[in-house]
Parts: sequence; C-alpha cells; structure tokens
Amino acid sequence: MKLFKNKEFSPDEDIQDVYGPPPDEPDPDDPEAPVFVDKLPPMDFDPREQQVQLIYGPPEMFNGGFMSVRAAAAPVAPTDRSNYDKIVACRDMIAGMTDIKPKVALILGSGLGDFAENCVDIRCTVDYSRLPGFPISTVEGHKGRFIFGYIGDVPVVVMQGRVHYYEGYSMQDVVMPTRLMAMLGAKVLFLTNASGGINTSFKAGDFMLITDHISSFVPNPLIGKNIDSLGTRFPDMSEIYDRELRGAVEETAAGLGIDLKHGVYVQLTGPSFESPAEIRMLKVLGADAVGMSTSMEAVTGRHAGMRVCGISCISNLASGLSENPLSHAEVQECANKAAPRFRALVSESIKKFGELLK
Ligand code: HPA
Repeated sequence: MKLFKNKEFSPDEDIQDVYGPPPDEPDPDDPEAPVFVDKLPPMDFDPREQQVQLIYGPPEMFNGGFMSVRAAAAPVAPTDRSNYDKIVACRDMIAGMTDIKPKVALILGSGLGDFAENCVDIRCTVDYSRLPGFPISTVEGHKGRFIFGYIGDVPVVVMQGRVHYYEGYSMQDVVMPTRLMAMLGAKVLFLTNASGGINTSFKAGDFMLITDHISSFVPNPLIGKNIDSLGTRFPDMSEIYDRELRGAVEETAAGLGIDLKHGVYVQLTGPSFESPAEIRMLKVLGADAVGMSTSMEAVTGRHAGMRVCGISCISNLASGLSENPLSHAEVQECANKAAPRFRALVSESIKKFGELLK
C-alpha cells in the first residue's frame, strides 16, 4: 500500500522524502492507482483540511474517502498556487462572457439581495456554480451570482451572495472572489453587511459608515506564500477605508436625509452570535458594530491595491444590549426593512465614486 500526496497541495520536501514522489498521471484503469485530492469533487472533503490531505491507498478501502493527516500539516502555502490558478481560470471564463470592465466591485450583504434588480442596468449574470472552484454560500438568503452592468455610467461587478469563514472554507477561498474582482480591473471595493450595534447610540435600522476595523479575531486572509502579482507581502493598513470615498458616502447620505453613523467594525468568525461578556469586551476594544464578514475582504482589497469603502446596516442591538435573544431571522427582517434606503445610499454613492475615478 502506498501513501501519495498531491503535488498541488503539499510540495513539502520532507513529506515527499517519506512517501516518495507522487507518480505522474495515474492510470485510470489501475484499481490501485492513487486518486489525487484535486481530482475529487470539491465538496467531498472538508475544505478546512485540504492542504494536508493525503490519499491512503485506493479510495474504496476507506469508504471512498481518504485520510486527513493534520499532524503533517505544512504551512498553508501549498493552497496558494492552486487558489491563484483558480482565480485566473475564473477570470478567463468571465472574460469570455462579458466585455464589461468593472470600475467598482460591490459585495451585497443581508437585506441587499435584490439590489441589482432595482439599481443596476444588468448586462450579464454569471452564476458562481459555473465558475471552476468558486466558493458557494450555504447560508439561507444568500444568492450566488455575479452581476455585471452599470449604475449610472459606472461599470460595476456586483456579488449577490458571499461565503463566510464559518461555512468551513479556508480564508483564502473566502477572499478568492475579492481577488478575482481586483483581477477583473475593479478599482474600488464597496463592502456592505448587516451587523449588531455595540455603540449604545445606535439603533436597529441605522447605517454605519465603517471608518476602521478590528480583524484580529479571524485569520489574516494573506497568510501563506505571497503571490506578488496579487499584492505586496506586507501591505499597509493605516487607512483601510478610503477617506475620499467616505466623504462621498457622507455627502450622499446628507443628500438623502440619512443620519449616517460612523464607527469601527469588528469581525468575529461566527456562526454563533456573541455572548454579552464578549460584547462588553469588544466595546472596551473600541468596536462600534460586530459581524461575521467584511474585514477579511477589506484587507484583501487593500492588498490588491483597491480603494475600499464599507457600510454596515445595524440590524440589531448586539447581544446583551436588548432583552431579546438574537436570531438570523431578526437580522434578515430588519435588513429587509432598511433595504430601500440602503439601496439608495449605495447606488447614489457609487455614482459619486464614478466622478472620483474619472
Ligand atoms: N453579531 C454578529 N453578526 C451579526 C450580528 C450580531 O449581532 N447581527 C448581524 N450580523
């Protein structure tokens, strides 16, 4: 019986010495032939362990499965190459479907699900499921497609649905769509989400312009071998949320009569909501709103050289700040109620961004 590993997933020389180099293309008629991890359907394995999976003999020996050897884990670098290749493959596929060159990339959070139908002159839609290796959300209420079109005269790519780290994808997979949109040419990354209000002056239904974030509770999406064509190894994060774009959102909100709040967003992994003690801790740390997305994408966007902007819809008061237990249904209901104002704020802001980008 032989142990093989996948070149793509683990180029670690030490492991290679122990198990021998993987053979070239396995013979499809040989029942003893190794099955490489990257030849399996993507969701047949736990994406969190993909870097360290070794194939142990023919798959039928283990119920068609394979052994996961955490102890042999090399740093995450091995996934980086395949992730980069996936991004390039998706970019090439999209290039064959639309000639729109987006200037602004918009990621829609809860409640903005039907933003595109209302605010975008849609020219092309691309279901994530058509893109090779693209991460697909399992969360109810999140659709899964890119929309290419125009808001005013600004060419945009809109993500209707995003994946979250708590769904079990590696952080590299979670931010892969952001990198793809940068590679498609987007200069601005506009992030939206629903969040729990920690700042006691906030109420459900408010909008908070994100001025900065705390990302220290989730893995940094840039961990692993740096791919220089995506960005520099040690990117500056001293002004993640672009001052000029923030000014444009502030002006837009004032024009729409929206009382825009400002604050620091903190990302936790979820999927459980926080405990009241955690919220007290986050308040001491300087956070104004808490959620399960966004900061990882913002870091990735800055790494890729995009100018980043973020608005959070405060969908509930954070844990312990109201009598009610928290629920996903409550988050969605409030975000849906706020949607018409949120849509106006986002779409009018993008038109202003268009002026700045000229
Ligand atoms: N906590 C974390 N994430 C959230 C919340 C919250 O209270 N509301 C919406 N997303």
